Amino acid sequence: MKSQSLNSVELTRAGIVDMLSTVPASVVYASADQMRQAAVGSDVHLRGLIEFSNICRNNCLYCGIRRGNHAVERYRMDDDQLVDIARRAVDMGFQTIVLQSGEDLHYDADRMCHIIERIKAMDVALTLSIGEREYADYRDFRNAGADRYLMRIETTDVDLYHRLNPGMSWQHRHECLLMIRELGYELGSGIMVGLPGQTIESIADDLLYLKDIGVDMAGIGPFIPHPATPLAHEQGGTLELALRTMAVMRLLLPDINIPATTAMESLHPKGRIMALQAGANVVMPNVTEGEYRRLYELYPGKICVNDTPLHCRTCIGLKIQSIGRTIGQGWGGHGTHKNNIHQ
Ligand code: SAM
Ligand code: FES
Repeated sequence: MKSQSLNSVELTRAGIVDMLSTVPASVVYASADQMRQAAVGSDVHLRGLIEFSNICRNNCLYCGIRRGNHAVERYRMDDDQLVDIARRAVDMGFQTIVLQSGEDLHYDADRMCHIIERIKAMDVALTLSIGEREYADYRDFRNAGADRYLMRIETTDVDLYHRLNPGMSWQHRHECLLMIRELGYELGSGIMVGLPGQTIESIADDLLYLKDIGVDMAGIGPFIPHPATPLAHEQGGTLELALRTMAVMRLLLPDINIPATTAMESLHPKGRIMALQAGANVVMPNVTEGEYRRLYELYPGKICVNDTPLHCRTCIGLKIQSIGRTIGQGWGGHGTHKNNIHQ
């Protein structure tokens, strides 16, 4: 590394590897924090996350709701229930609703479009995170009003991806992300860190990939082994590596939206606050209600499973204010901050 300040370092693959490994973590975090302040300011945008079905056709080795986990009690919300939860979240002040589920084709294009139209009538931004679909579905969801789509590429190590995601194709997932971008959604993607067999070099490649496809949002979280999956006895990712990776993402793409992920807080009680001070500017409180919160168990120790949406909204609001940050007003899309050079 050849410069006085990390912000002016040319972020080559080798430079990224250094920041993920040898540069002191506090230096990487502070640089990302400065970059976040300069590019998107103090605002933290809140997104209300509804986990509406834990039924999934896939069998990803790391995931607690994989098809092969027969110990999970499965649920799917009906349309009215889902729209009601969204309405309560909007009444609480959320201006973005995120609908997430396993890959559950019960929600076909027609059903999803009706749900999207009903939520969009509440005048909020809508993000979908429901996995891989046909081009026509993505097009119909967009025409129905969906604004954003979130689907992590998980890793760009294609062999690793195929080992972890049996029956799935990395190329297909990549092509889905390109379709989503072409259809004019705000594109969200991201990765897990600490996957078994993943190297620091491959994480550097992941970050360059996310930059290359031009994500508007990047979610980076530690892999946390779930006891009822084939990866139960793996080590999992550390909070430090997840934070470093997220911080370098901020340095590579200064003005995008980056969430402080729930998985980070599941590893450390202050995980999300640490993330907000190392480059993040978004939090996605869970607004799913009742029993469903517990049943959407992607990994053990998931936070807030016994809390109510209102409790979570209040709690995270206080935490954000306690570090001198402000709750973002408006939809908080990529490129809407006043410091943004693209405006
Ligand atoms: N089915 C949709 C999809 O594939 O995009 C959305 C739901 S999926 C469960 C959401 C994300 O959870 C995945 O992209 C993955 O990164 C994360 N996830 C799954 N299992 C995890 C684990 N054991 N530890 C940490 N994150 C996990
Ligand atoms: Fe749920 Fe704090 S965010 S209790």
